Amino acid sequence: MRSYKIAVMRGDGIGPEIVDEGIKVLEAVSEPEGFELDWIEYPHGADHFLATGELLSEATLKELAGCAAIYFGCIGDPRLAPGVLEQGILLALRFYFDQYVNLRPVKLLEGVRTPLAGKGPADIDISVVRENTEDFYIGIGGRVGAGSTKNTLEILRSLYQVKFELDIVTDADELAYQIGVVSRKGCERVMRFAFELAREREKKLTSVDKANVLTHCYGFWREIFTEVAKDYPEVETEFNFVDAITMWFVKNPEWYDVVVAPNMFGDIITDLGAMIQGGLGLAPGGNINPEGVSMFEPIHGSAPKYKGKNVSNPIATIWAGALLLANIGEKRASDRVIEAIESVLKEGKVRTYDLGGSSKTREVGDAIAQRVRAQE
Ligand code: IPM
Ligand code: MN
Repeated sequence: MRSYKIAVMRGDGIGPEIVDEGIKVLEAVSEPEGFELDWIEYPHGADHFLATGELLSEATLKELAGCAAIYFGCIGDPRLAPGVLEQGILLALRFYFDQYVNLRPVKLLEGVRTPLAGKGPADIDISVVRENTEDFYIGIGGRVGAGSTKNTLEILRSLYQVKFELDIVTDADELAYQIGVVSRKGCERVMRFAFELAREREKKLTSVDKANVLTHCYGFWREIFTEVAKDYPEVETEFNFVDAITMWFVKNPEWYDVVVAPNMFGDIITDLGAMIQGGLGLAPGGNINPEGVSMFEPIHGSAPKYKGKNVSNPIATIWAGALLLANIGEKRASDRVIEAIESVLKEGKVRTYDLGGSSKTREVGDAIAQRVRAQE
């Protein structure tokens, strides 16, 4: 029998309970589809860190490298400063495994209401391809403390090649800076992934940037996009500024098919995307390295105040599980899970609070797992 080793990192807050439902559904589909999932649990997250001081060790990363994929819940905990777990666990995994594509389907499923008046499932079906290893996420930056005006100026001059002295800089005795970096290779590989997807779907590809202000990074991004586009003459392309695309996602989502975006803009527009597809409880994502170990997760956070209450919507996580199945080569099982999610949503009987219902997290998982079995 085909068998896959899947690493499970439930994380914090609602992570454990939503991942339970994901595993339940994937187990339900694996049996009739004739494969086996071997779940290997990892305790990483806030509790583990507070108890042991470990965020994510080299030894753990090496172990994870032997898995077919990683199934990830969510991280974030009010006891820790923002960024500790995010950088130490989630971003560490994305970077270590070089998961350079963050694929986020923004698709309104049948039976779900979008807040956009007059729009339906036919209008909202976008694949956002977010760059996932560069840009402002690389963590380069720093702070310069009070009383070191000269230092700050020198730093800024060299970093930003400041040619004139802005008041804010000359007067500053305390400042922080952060640098975004995009590389030719980094842009090219994520763009090629997006072009392949657009070609496969016979759809247009929109490239997102802010080349009118962040001219260094995104001027470069545009240049590379234009070059890569030459290899895909059958794909229609366009450029959108990031501020404009947030407006158009709301006004005319039907315009968009495949969208490729730098890391930070991709982060921002996919939260907006989640809302137009019915809410954060419905938005999955895949951190993909086409040649390596990929990781699948809901795009939402750990919602600490709902932890353990059995009220959160597990569908984003279950859907992320479906993306995982497609990634390990079980495409038919993946389709079955998505079909079951859609069927349960369309029927409308079992829904969590965020979708206007009163069903519990576990009931949603049960209903989808049952629907998967009934497909046979
Ligand atoms: C996401 C999240 C993460 C990100 C955080 C938790 C680091 O917002 O996956 O979209 O910014 O990428
Ligand atoms: Mn985000």
